[in-house]
Amino acid sequence: MSLLIKALRGEKTRPVPVWMMRQAGRYLPEYRELRKQAGSFLDLCYSPELACEVTLQPIRRYGFDAAILFADILLIPDGLGQNVRFDEGIGPVLEPIVPGTDLGFLSHDDALEHLQPVFETVRLVRSKLDDQTALIGFCGAPWTVATYMIAGRGTPDQKPARLAAYRNPKWFEALIDILVESSIEYLSGQVEAGCGVIQIFDSWSGVLTEAEFEKWCIAPVKKIVAGVKARHRDVPIIGFPRGAGVMCQSFVSQSGVDGLSLDGNIPLQWAAENLQGQVALQGNLDPLLVVAGGAALDREVDRILEVLGAGAFVFNLSHGLIPETPPEHVGQVVDCIRRHSAV
Ligand code: CP3
Repeated sequence: MSLLIKALRGEKTRPVPVWMMRQAGRYLPEYRELRKQAGSFLDLCYSPELACEVTLQPIRRYGFDAAILFADILLIPDGLGQNVRFDEGIGPVLEPIVPGTDLGFLSHDDALEHLQPVFETVRLVRSKLDDQTALIGFCGAPWTVATYMIAGRGTPDQKPARLAAYRNPKWFEALIDILVESSIEYLSGQVEAGCGVIQIFDSWSGVLTEAEFEKWCIAPVKKIVAGVKARHRDVPIIGFPRGAGVMCQSFVSQSGVDGLSLDGNIPLQWAAENLQGQVALQGNLDPLLVVAGGAALDREVDRILEVLGAGAFVFNLSHGLIPETPPEHVGQVVDCIRRHSAV
């Protein structure tokens, strides 16, 4: 069994498993090269051979303990029928859904059909990885995906979705329910194709108030976890309610996740005392420190391992690697973890 799965089942492992959010991406020259050949970002996501190659690039370079499927959280809205594009220098662009309007055009059947190439990527990647390397599948949490569907792009404060949820909660809930259902189908498809672990990204949960957090982050994630586990009892699921702060406690006690990915603002000692008894923890190195490198990077890796390595733990970042990261600094982090937490 892979180290990642052992840790997510609650074991303290040596060495500590490591992977990094956005480990495949623009900081790698081999990614930039292949991305040029593919044309658009979405073409890359929907081309199983190329997406498989990109998924494997960081595994070959660093020997991470897990590969993460190369895809995007916005493939679900794209599949449901809300066309998505990624513009150079801007990011995702969607035709915004106007709150209160008919959601009937969003089709689950179309989505599953459209997402078949992703399942093919999973099968290909799994056939090329050894048994020790886990394959992580993922989706965006409904709240985060809805913020893009309503605004039509990334926003600094997620205002359009927050207003829609306040003004028109019934309509908003109907949208969230559509995303819950399609996420269950999509994640189950990923598991059936060969993913052994799932991560649910709620990148924008940190803007929600306590009551809204319960309704739009915890409740939908809980339904997805229950829905996937009803079909695949043993698959470990990691939640990433970014920015949730102390609300991580209610997220952990209610959602049913096996692992919790920590962002950069959670005090580690607090997390060790209040969360690690219930779930495996994952995190939380600052991606900017990986850009900076040097002795401070080693010290922070050591500090994280010291506080969280005493329990079930997966080394990761507090958010994704950024394009200006020098690839050798990623290698430095991996070496430091393996040195510090050798068998
Ligand atoms: O290596 C991996 O982590 C696997 C693949 C992956 C991508 N996106 C590839 C990607 C994963 C897990 C994601 C998740 C994702 N996508 C999230 C949740 C995690 C987070 O970062 O908070 C979100 C919010 C998105 C939506 C998204 N995708 C945005 C806002 C952007 C544009 C900003 C940016 O970084 O360019 C993307 C594009 C994207 N997704 C890229 C990659 C490698 C860059 C695209 C390129 O090559 O031009």
